[in-house]
Amino acid sequence: MSEAASKSTAGTGPRMAIGRQRRVWNLRAKDWAHHVSNNEGLRQVVDAVVETAVEVGGPELGTVVDLGTGSGQVVLELAGRATRALAVDVSAAMLDQLVARAREEDRATVETMVCPIEELTLPPASVDLVVSNYALHHLRDRDKETLMADVLRWLRPGGHLVLGDMMLGRGGDAADRAVIAGKVRQLARKGPGGWWRIAKNAFRMLLRVHERPLSASAWSAMATRHGFTEVRVRPVVQEAAILVARRPLEARPAAS
Ligand SMILES: C[S@@+](CC[C@H](N)C(=O)[O-])C[C@H]1O[C@@H](n2cnc3c(N)ncnc32)[C@H](O)[C@@H]1O
Repeated sequence: MSEAASKSTAGTGPRMAIGRQRRVWNLRAKDWAHHVSNNEGLRQVVDAVVETAVEVGGPELGTVVDLGTGSGQVVLELAGRATRALAVDVSAAMLDQLVARAREEDRATVETMVCPIEELTLPPASVDLVVSNYALHHLRDRDKETLMADVLRWLRPGGHLVLGDMMLGRGGDAADRAVIAGKVRQLARKGPGGWWRIAKNAFRMLLRVHERPLSASAWSAMATRHGFTEVRVRPVVQEAAILVARRPLEARPAAS
């Protein structure tokens, strides 16, 4: 397992947020694979990310990078088609689980890297496919923005980004409002336990602590702004959606 060379994340705020993610996910690492396999919604999103990655990347995926890989839900499914599959996560405990599973499943192309996404550096045009599932909503918005520029640079021309995540704004558009209303109804039916979760989720959403999802339209606008082409989003289940975007084959002519 390698430790990445650090890109600087100046200030204590980002460092604290990264430290918290590491602590939280180290504690959840042992049970995460079990949790996903018992959660219909999470399984559907993992499957949709894998299917989409194969659909856009074809049978030979080349070099794949999975950001916030966890214990390998997506990367282990893609590793058989990849020449190299780099699994990046802030949690060493998650990657320990992944390494054990890769060994069991004989996935020799998988390499792991303990590294916050915010600090990852890769050579330009060195990656064919970047995937990520249910991880990027943990990043601050400015780090998502920086990452989008980084991913475009890391991809080879024609390479793809496939991003699965909760894609939900704070109720600014009709799609958001429909998802939020559905969730509130679902939780309200559960009685006091559900009402407590409504209050907790509303607090988290409004203050954007720990979870900072963006709406599908915000992700899509960000990808387009950074120069990706063929940008599309498709809903999967509840608030989860998948964004697909491609690095153009030709460099865009410089604006005059
Ligand atoms: C909800 S889990 C998803 C794991 C896996 N991708 C999946 O589909 O099951 C979120 C993962 O993102 C990782 N993560 C959170 N913040 C991170 C960061 N800033 N840098 C790298 N990994 C991060 C966590 O350690 C955790 O493994």
